[in-house]
Amino acid sequence: MVFGLIHMAYILAALLFILALAGLSKQETAKLGALSGIIGMAIALVATFGQVESSIGFILIIVAMVVGGAIGVYVAKRVAMTQMPELIACLHSFVGLAAVLVGFNSFFELGAVAPETVTIPVDATAAEVAAILATAQSAAGQVAHAMSVSELNTHLVEIFLGIFIGAVTFTGSIVAYGKLNGTFKLRVFKSAPLMLPGGHWLNLAALVISLFLLIWFMAADNPPLTALVIMTLIAFAFGVHLVAAIGGADMPVVISMLNSYSGWAAAASGFMLSNDLLIVTGALVGSSGAILSYIMCKAMNRSFISVIAGGFGNEGAAVEDEEMGEYRELQAAEVADLLKNSSSVIIAPGYGMAVAQAQNAVAQLTEKLKARGVEVRFAIHPVAGRLPGHMNVLLAEAKVPYDIVLEMDEINDDFENTDTVLVIGANDTVNPAALENPNSPIAGMPVLEVWKARNVVVFKRSMNAGYAGVQNPLFFKENTSMCFGDAKDTVEKIVANI
Ligand code: TAP
Repeated sequence: MVFGLIHMAYILAALLFILALAGLSKQETAKLGALSGIIGMAIALVATFGQVESSIGFILIIVAMVVGGAIGVYVAKRVAMTQMPELIACLHSFVGLAAVLVGFNSFFELGAVAPETVTIPVDATAAEVAAILATAQSAAGQVAHAMSVSELNTHLVEIFLGIFIGAVTFTGSIVAYGKLNGTFKLRVFKSAPLMLPGGHWLNLAALVISLFLLIWFMAADNPPLTALVIMTLIAFAFGVHLVAAIGGADMPVVISMLNSYSGWAAAASGFMLSNDLLIVTGALVGSSGAILSYIMCKAMNRSFISVIAGGFGNEGAAVEDEEMGEYRELQAAEVADLLKNSSSVIIAPGYGMAVAQAQNAVAQLTEKLKARGVEVRFAIHPVAGRLPGHMNVLLAEAKVPYDIVLEMDEINDDFENTDTVLVIGANDTVNPAALENPNSPIAGMPVLEVWKARNVVVFKRSMNAGYAGVQNPLFFKENTSMCFGDAKDTVEKIVANI
């Protein structure tokens, strides 16, 4: 009865998770999607409680939930929107570590039920020998009952793969966190890809050695812990190298790839723990992460395989440092005049708008211009900011109507018929070098073709490069002017001048 209820709860939770994914795919239904996810998770937690058999287990879960929940609430309240990818990378590392721990625990549990060698004392009487043998037979019977040979083999593969994926996810996510956060000053965590000589051969060697370790692990009479430990160490190193080798501009893909890995790690844990919901949820996260990575790769014109293989194809890319010429500068009041004389305006926001928290000022500017009869629209690059949908979330928060917020594909052809483009804290996503310079590290990435408009104004604090560390020829084009300063201050000054 209880078992049936738990299964029903699991099915319901899985359905709600699917609804959550569906809802989150559109701004209008995102809140509903998040709510479905929350309800699904609450149901899953209650169902999990229903499975706890001992009171000590129950207490341990409560303690873990209170401590984990308190840390979660504290971190979620403190984290800025711009730090979200770091937080996600950090959370992925926990999933990876959990899969490693579950894997080792499952391995040790196997050892606990394995038959022990029977020692019969030389001076034992016939009755004592019979009793010892009967006990040993009953233990062996329990093992046979608990797991057939094929089940045991499947379980061993689950353990091995679960630990491998978990370990790669764990260290890969830590490096991704370090790269995004810039906390670590070690070279391996710099935004630029770490290109070790023969790096791809190292990756291949790690995979091949792990395969041999799996064969050893499966073939031995008693699966050796040593094989598991060596594989875990290799997987840790593999995870570090895999992500360290990926350049900053590909980081969004890495984050969603790690999201996918963490899903597969959770699914592997589900197999080890015979927990259907964990398998389903892990598979949902794993496949949606992989699909998102693929979509992002398409948006950045990167080959999916080359990105996840760790910077493949980055070898020829050099960060150019050449002199680009003169740039023009406008003050806020002059930008206000330019806007007053424009009949169509497109705003291309980027990471700098998020840093400056300029979205409310930008929304006010939009209202003022619309009130003067100016057509205002937003152009959103798929990887603008630091996480998928970053700009959409900020603009929605500032109550900018959805219908004037357009995706890159919807608006890219309209720039040439536009009077003025305001590039607010965007850089890589409006860099013409992506289309014009085949040696640029971002070559081939589709970008917002803002330079085709009659006037372009770029809001930033300096001439510094953007996330990918590449100089931007847009700033030196004849129809471009720079408006230096914090984006929020500048936009507020413009609003005051209109
Ligand atoms: P970026 O290329 O990162 O450029 C942001 C610009 O904002 C910088 O050049 C910076 O110039 C300016 N800025 C920073 N703070 C500012 C402030 N307070 N006021 C005004 N300007 C400010 O931005 P982007 O065009 O949005 O491109 C996103 C990049 O991040 C891409 O390379 C993408 O691949 C990467 N990325 C994206 C994601 C996702 S999923 N969206 C995740 C990780 C990485 P100053 O320093 O001169 O002010």
